[in-house]
Amino acid sequence: MSEMNAAIAGLQNPSLNPCLGDEIVGRINRLGAISETPAHLARVFLSKEHRAAADLILAWMREAGMQAHLDAIGNVCGRYEGERPGLTCLMLGSHYDTVRDAGKWDGPLGLLTAISCVGDLNKRGRRLPFAIEVTGFADEEGVRFASTLLGSRAVAGTFDESVLGVKDSAGISLRDALVQFGLDPDHIGAAARARSELLGYVELHIEQGPVLEAQNLPVGVVTAIAGATRLAASLTGMAGHAGTVPMLLRRDALAGAAECIVAIEEFCRTDAGGLVGTVGYIHAMPGATNVIPGQVSFTIDMRAPTDAHRKLAVADIVRSIENIAKRRKLVLQLDVTHENRTVPCATWLKRQVSEAIAGEGYPVFELPSGAGHDGMAMIDIADVAMVFVRCRGGISHHPDEHVEPADVDAGARVLLRLIENFRPRSAA
Ligand code: GLV
Ligand code: MN
Ligand code: MN
Repeated sequence: MSEMNAAIAGLQNPSLNPCLGDEIVGRINRLGAISETPAHLARVFLSKEHRAAADLILAWMREAGMQAHLDAIGNVCGRYEGERPGLTCLMLGSHYDTVRDAGKWDGPLGLLTAISCVGDLNKRGRRLPFAIEVTGFADEEGVRFASTLLGSRAVAGTFDESVLGVKDSAGISLRDALVQFGLDPDHIGAAARARSELLGYVELHIEQGPVLEAQNLPVGVVTAIAGATRLAASLTGMAGHAGTVPMLLRRDALAGAAECIVAIEEFCRTDAGGLVGTVGYIHAMPGATNVIPGQVSFTIDMRAPTDAHRKLAVADIVRSIENIAKRRKLVLQLDVTHENRTVPCATWLKRQVSEAIAGEGYPVFELPSGAGHDGMAMIDIADVAMVFVRCRGGISHHPDEHVEPADVDAGARVLLRLIENFRPRSAA
């Protein structure tokens, strides 16, 4: 019998707490209520609400039988010992920060599912031949400091100390925000983990796209996480009187930015290789009805299925922005704020995810992730795999983001099965 068929035939999991899905959905709702703005979910890195969420997650981890603490960058870290203390761990997790006007599932679904799975093992007194660690990564979205994956980079030991000086839109530096949160910025190195401590990193996450829904499947196996390049652009022209400066004498930074944005859109729309480009933030100065905008900043997010294609596209787009700036006599400043290569999921771990999905009676379906995830940083210290859970209409980074409770339960069953049948690479 093949490994996969054995999984289907023999490994049903009758001891799973039937309320696991209910517990996860209840906690998703509680966490989703912790927001800087009550009507629009926003819980950005190191905000007061981010801290309140961390405290609640720590409490849930302890309730699930884990030792839990905050690390030096604000990651919530829980550890469930194996058959004896000090064993190497399988790390599970996802992030607990959000974009602005977010949905409540992006990040928390994977984190809370992992905690509930550990809680279920704990209730049954089940200890495994390895430890389980669950990490709630503090900053996956990169909303506040124009630099992303700060939590998982700290864990992977690749945190760039120069980011400590970066300021948010209110002028608060990352260093000061960490202090306000109750952390010591000079100890971020202590959050780093060694490759030898980890057996692998597995993240469950909502799909954030429409593929599983179209396939009528609750769960899927991720093949790779697409790479991304993010840039910060600034155009400087000349502010002036909206009534007196003739059109041909203007150096309007906002009109220049508009031309750049349309050029980026057109470039991606006419690309046959799956390229996507987004300008998601723009700020014009001085920002008055009767003043020609003298300075504009905006962001660019570029992604493609292959790194080579993304790099060529970014180079082309940079060239066309430079040409637009030159023609309009605008001074251009362009900085790469984030660059991540495409991260393939490990074949041996993917196989175990597939077995867990088949074991729960679902067809095994593989799909790539267009969205970024903490695995992009964790790859530097561990092999990575991901389980995707279907979401309604493929909607994400939007308040209408939704996962059906039955799919939450399906994801939890798959993750629990994966944990209970996990074999380290050396034994896989
Ligand atoms: C994270 O959600 C990203 O892909 O931008
Ligand atoms: Mn996410
Ligand atoms: Mn997200």
